[in-house]
Amino acid sequence: MESRQNVPAGMEIKIKMKIVETIAEVRAQVKEWRAQGLSVGLVPTMGYLHEGHKSLIDRAVAENDKVVVSVFVNPMQFGERDSALCENAGAALIFHPQPEEMYHKDFSSFVDMNTLTKGLCGKTRPIHFRGVCTVVSKLFNIVQPDKAYFGQKDAQQLAVIRHMVSDLNFGIEIVGCPIVREADGLAKSSRNTYLNEQERKAAVVLNQSLQAAQDLYENGERSAAVLSAAIREKLAAEPLAKPDYVEIVDWNTLEPVETIQDSVLMAIAVYIGKTRLIDNRIL
Ligand code: PAF
Repeated sequence: MESRQNVPAGMEIKIKMKIVETIAEVRAQVKEWRAQGLSVGLVPTMGYLHEGHKSLIDRAVAENDKVVVSVFVNPMQFGERDSALCENAGAALIFHPQPEEMYHKDFSSFVDMNTLTKGLCGKTRPIHFRGVCTVVSKLFNIVQPDKAYFGQKDAQQLAVIRHMVSDLNFGIEIVGCPIVREADGLAKSSRNTYLNEQERKAAVVLNQSLQAAQDLYENGERSAAVLSAAIREKLAAEPLAKPDYVEIVDWNTLEPVETIQDSVLMAIAVYIGKTRLIDNRIL
């Protein structure tokens, strides 16, 4: 086992991992692995990695011979900590391209989706999912993995990517991984670092409000309006919380439901001070 300076406590390095910046290097490495008959998993990220990302890499390492972690969009935040987390979790390769490697100056092709992207986070971020679908398609074409791993915390993103993979016949298995939470229930997110002490305490209301609705569901309640009112009531009791949306939708189509049957997503976005956090439960 190698050791490295500046690696956070408990993050010993177990394997030798490569970091590459060019598409050509990724392709050459994946080609070599394929020639050896090895399977390849992909974990796309934007850097600033935390335990939630680690859980995706852990799962990918358990299910594939080689794991590629892409770190793109947030190059300024990529540091020693991110690479130590990937290496310690068993990733074989980090693909960390500069923007011009991914988007040459004449870039003009986009992957867009008419359904699934209009509601929830898409209401206030109309072009967000076009960006996600485009970059994820590019990463899929570059790495050509067998499986790719996404967190359920970004539930709409997971649903959108599953739909895109089916529509465009990518032939990649999309693995959704459970939300990783802090001890008090707050979903892990890079954004939690923006919260001050008071806001951090208030932020537990997201999980608590969803839990209140889940408790009602487990006691037999099936009305989406009743569950939604329970979430809003709990959020209203926290002065620092301002809901952006509270939605109860079908987990596949993301269309609102009135009565809860199978596969329903309860999704919320809430401002805690200036920081917008999301959380959800699948019933
Ligand atoms: O979930 C993320 O971190 C990003 O949306 C993704 C999938 C890496 C695309 O930029």
